[in-house]
Amino acid sequence: MLVRLLYASRAVEPTQSAIEDILGSARQHNQQQGVTGILVYGGGVFMQAIEGGRQVVSDLYGTIQRDARHQDVVLLHYEEILERRFGGWAMGLVDVGRVNASVLLKYSERAELNPYAVSGKVSMALLEELMATASIVGHT
Ligand SMILES: Cc1cc2nc3c(=O)[nH]c(=O)nc-3n(C[C@H](O)[C@H](O)[C@H](O)COP(=O)(O)O)c2cc1C
Repeated sequence: MLVRLLYASRAVEPTQSAIEDILGSARQHNQQQGVTGILVYGGGVFMQAIEGGRQVVSDLYGTIQRDARHQDVVLLHYEEILERRFGGWAMGLVDVGRVNASVLLKYSERAELNPYAVSGKVSMALLEELMATASIVGHT
């Protein structure tokens, strides 16, 4: 029983090394748990999609919500899925600073990451676009 969950949050300490720390342990943990997904980061904002077994994703989201390295965690989208979208990534990373502005502008008023201002559906569409434009870095 696979599910996908998408949420947004604001980084408490928006530095490269803080993000690397999060990613490092996330990738290791996710691989063990059969979790895949994408972490998008830009302008102090995170948006993360996680997919995997329903119980595993539910527990992980609970853990992530309690993580003091970010705040204002908001659920954007949740669905039961037939197959994974991000199966190639234990946790892929998208640095919005490296993304073509037109990709961001396609889905929002300004060329910035602001999942707080758009629907979960629109944020999922942005993730699809980031996949299509090969903006995701990382490995399984
Ligand atoms: C923005 C953000 C995204 C995270 N994503 C993941 C993730 O995908 N997988 C994961 O295991 N932990 C993730 N974490 C870390 C968890 O909140 C938690 O620190 C970690 O699972 C605990 O691992 P440990 O028991 O090995 O210390 C994330 C944290 C933040 C702030």
